[in-house]
Amino acid sequence: MSETDWSPTSEAVAADQRAAYDAMRERCPVARDGTGAWTLFRHDDVVAAALDPATFSSRVSRHLNVPNGMDGEEHARFRALIDPYLAPGAVARLEPRFRGLAARLVASLPGDRSVEAVSELGARFAVRAQSAWLGWPAELEDTLLGWMDDNLEATRSRRLSRTAAVAERFDAIVRSLIEARRRAGADAPDDVTTQLLGERIDGRPLSDEEVISILRNWTAGDLGSIAACIGVVVHRLAVDAGLQERLRGSGRGGDELEAEIDEILRIDDPFVSNRRLATVDVEVGGRTVRAGERVVLNWTAANRDPRVMGDPDSRRPAENALRNVVYGIGVHECPGRGLATLELRVAIEELLAATSAIELAPGADPVREAPPRGGYRTVPVMLRPGPGRPTG
Ligand code: HEM
Repeated sequence: MSETDWSPTSEAVAADQRAAYDAMRERCPVARDGTGAWTLFRHDDVVAAALDPATFSSRVSRHLNVPNGMDGEEHARFRALIDPYLAPGAVARLEPRFRGLAARLVASLPGDRSVEAVSELGARFAVRAQSAWLGWPAELEDTLLGWMDDNLEATRSRRLSRTAAVAERFDAIVRSLIEARRRAGADAPDDVTTQLLGERIDGRPLSDEEVISILRNWTAGDLGSIAACIGVVVHRLAVDAGLQERLRGSGRGGDELEAEIDEILRIDDPFVSNRRLATVDVEVGGRTVRAGERVVLNWTAANRDPRVMGDPDSRRPAENALRNVVYGIGVHECPGRGLATLELRVAIEELLAATSAIELAPGADPVREAPPRGGYRTVPVMLRPGPGRPTG
């Protein structure tokens, strides 16, 4: 086998990421690209690497990255600090507010022209829900939406200088929120952001850099992924009228909808991959990865591995749930899973309740997202108003 097995930035990959990853998983499941990074495509290799953080370190960047870029004890201490913010009880309390936000947003969408599901529904809902959770002012909405667009463009460009500049802009937004709270002192609002400022680690207060990094990872985890996931789910509903009808009929608050959403995202996982760094020489799928080499866990490919999922495109929520790695696995498994699941369920429930049908808009094809993101960039749909709940 040659030194370079594939190019993650090739036109063939961009044209159809899932088909390209499916093909790689069968042809060359542990593949080296031109930058020297290894990508793992098989479910068992991805899961084994994620479950072995001593061999596959998350310390892939020299920048502070709390807790994503940490290992071992340090990672465990920071996870213990952030996990309570995202625990089931804390998340459940947010449901009425999220539902109100989703219902109002859906009611404001027109019924007489096409609606773009990723930006008009997904991104807007993600920003509003997140601001409500963190206690950020509603006036930040357009700034955050603009930041999301630029962040996506920078990610697509794969240019480090661009992503660094966008990250700095985000840091400035958060820094001004932190400073306003410090100035307010005892009058600061009692919200998640203020609580985070009062946290201590190893007996000392968190540094501003640590607070900003935590908020950046919550925000980066939340905004873009929720918008992308809503795009994937709305697309699936629009092309599968039977599924749409069944879920519309099952009403609000159903576990059934959460299970279906997880399975729809397994089939078309927009959160494509995460990186690791090999700490020792290690054999994976018959190839030798050397200490210091970069490794990419391709969740999208793992989630479509027929060895564990059968036909990757057929929906079997109950059978596939335990092997679904949309939210990762192991010590870095997504702490925001409960929050993300609630946001997705509530947004889709309110969309289904307010409509009698969601259809792809005639003459405007959905556009797929470019690597390293997956899912759709745009999903134009027509929202047919439901009885008693006219949209527009
Ligand atoms: C649908 C939306 C989401 C998806 C698909 C998703 C997916 C993932 C995945 C696959 C990982 C594992 C990363 C790894 O192993 O390196 C992860 C980690 C993480 N996610 Fe999410 N996530 C989502 C939403 C959220 C939300 C809402 C938050 C917080 C508000 C969040 C915060 C994080 C953080 C902080 C980590 C790092 C955990 C650690 O390193 O211990 N995510 N996410």
